[in-house]
Amino acid sequence: MHKALLHLNHTLIKSLITEDDIVVDMTCGNGFDTEFLAQFSKHVYAFDIQIEALHNTKSRLSGYQNITFIHDSFEHVSNYIQDVKLYVFNLGYLPGGDKSVTTKKEITLKTIIELHEAIMKGSHIIIMSYVAHDEGLLEYTSLHNYFIEKKSYQIYETKALHYPLAPVVLWIQKKDSK
Ligand SMILES: C[S@@+](CC[C@H](N)C(=O)[O-])C[C@H]1O[C@@H](n2cnc3c(N)ncnc32)[C@H](O)[C@@H]1O
Repeated sequence: MHKALLHLNHTLIKSLITEDDIVVDMTCGNGFDTEFLAQFSKHVYAFDIQIEALHNTKSRLSGYQNITFIHDSFEHVSNYIQDVKLYVFNLGYLPGGDKSVTTKKEITLKTIIELHEAIMKGSHIIIMSYVAHDEGLLEYTSLHNYFIEKKSYQIYETKALHYPLAPVVLWIQKKDSK
């Protein structure tokens, strides 16, 4: 089931980007999303706050020439790169790593709000949000409560009907852009 959501997420990503696009993996973790993005875009900027995550991603993806690794929090993304087609957030903690190092609702929400101008110019944001752990649920709720009021965005939310604790995929774009 989780696999199906990932498939759905990747299918959506693939439909939004071309090999001329610059994209950002805001949380590279073990590099699965980075690898997918690297296959279908011109260049991927891969962020993570943990050296361990960057190390895992770099070792998996040593064959790719179109990835820049950045050891920094995603809230600083605009200091590194503009004109991004797609920002991908896979929230939560590093699978197999320290569960206490997880994305935080205040920083995630602030970062997405700050990407408003990019969205209005045609960028997209895709978020995989995990509701099965406390911090993740708070994070999802803060995103949901903020964006439900924002009419200048077009936002889709996908969740598994029979699995309330499955991750939720959010797709944020400018209203009527696609
Ligand atoms: C669920 S994992 C990402 C999974 C990854 N996309 C993959 O395909 O393997 C979440 C990652 O977010 C990272 N992270 C947490 N807070 C962050 C922040 N503020 N900026 C960048 N990365 C962050 C964690 O270190 C962790 O590696």
